[in-house]
Amino acid sequence: MPGKQKIFLVSGVSSGMGKAFAKFIQAKGHNLIALVRNKTSLVNFNCEQIIELDYAYPDRVEAAFHNFKTKIDCFVNFAAILPGKSYDEYDDKSLAELMNINVISPSLIIKSIVPHIKENGSIILLGSVSAQKGSYDDAYAASKGAIHSLVKSLALKLAPQIRVVGLAPALCNNTRMTQELVPGRYQRNLETIPLKQAAEVEDIAQIAYFLSSDSSKFITGSMLDVNGGQYLR
Ligand SMILES: NC(=O)c1ccc[n+]([C@@H]2O[C@H](COP(=O)([O-])OP(=O)(O)OC[C@H]3O[C@@H](n4cnc5c(N)ncnc54)[C@H](OP(=O)(O)O)[C@@H]3O)[C@@H](O)[C@H]2O)c1
Repeated sequence: MPGKQKIFLVSGVSSGMGKAFAKFIQAKGHNLIALVRNKTSLVNFNCEQIIELDYAYPDRVEAAFHNFKTKIDCFVNFAAILPGKSYDEYDDKSLAELMNINVISPSLIIKSIVPHIKENGSIILLGSVSAQKGSYDDAYAASKGAIHSLVKSLALKLAPQIRVVGLAPALCNNTRMTQELVPGRYQRNLETIPLKQAAEVEDIAQIAYFLSSDSSKFITGSMLDVNGGQYLR
């Protein structure tokens, strides 16, 4: 294998982009530590280690990483939910659940694993075009906006040892999130993308891999837009 073998901690490996990324890095000979809600969701993965954690319970993060000893090169956070509701359909409980899964648990995971990230390692967080242009799911957009901000602040704080980079996709095929959109929304969304196509999970996997590699060693604190021109800034 050209280059050195790395160790990736990856969440969301059971589905969509996280699954594609996990397959991609394994095909390149790297080691995978899967961070999943339920290990039974992992089929055909040869993981160095599996950590079970339901992001809905941020109070479980510390215990999940208590005995974590491995030195890792990169943490990529794919796990998130898109409830697909308008602001007036949320209540305090569903809003808290969304923020726990999309923002609070990822933040606490970062706190737990930063001491385990090797020098010149990286953290890659999944944001969304929704954070930049708004969304029918206002709270989801807000949760992703928090991730975009976190990328900047953490990048400054963790430099020069660790790079922190974000990826902001638009519509992406073969993800549960896209498959669960209400009828008609996929097509309407697609029509607003100048390139007239959605991303494929393999596209996202390759871009995330680039962001984790030394080829992007001068990139930190940025959100990389992968949106087919849907939002330009
Ligand atoms: N798909 C898109 O069009 C799109 C566009 C912009 C941004 N994004 C972002 O891209 C990232 C990847 O999304 P995707 O499209 O690949 O989504 P997906 O196919 O729906 O996968 C979501 C992943 O998150 C995990 N997850 C959900 N709730 C969890 C919890 N409580 N605890 C632990 N893990 C949990 C799921 O695990 P389980 O199998 O256990 O539920 C699954 O592995 C997300 O951050 C999303 O916000 C997606």
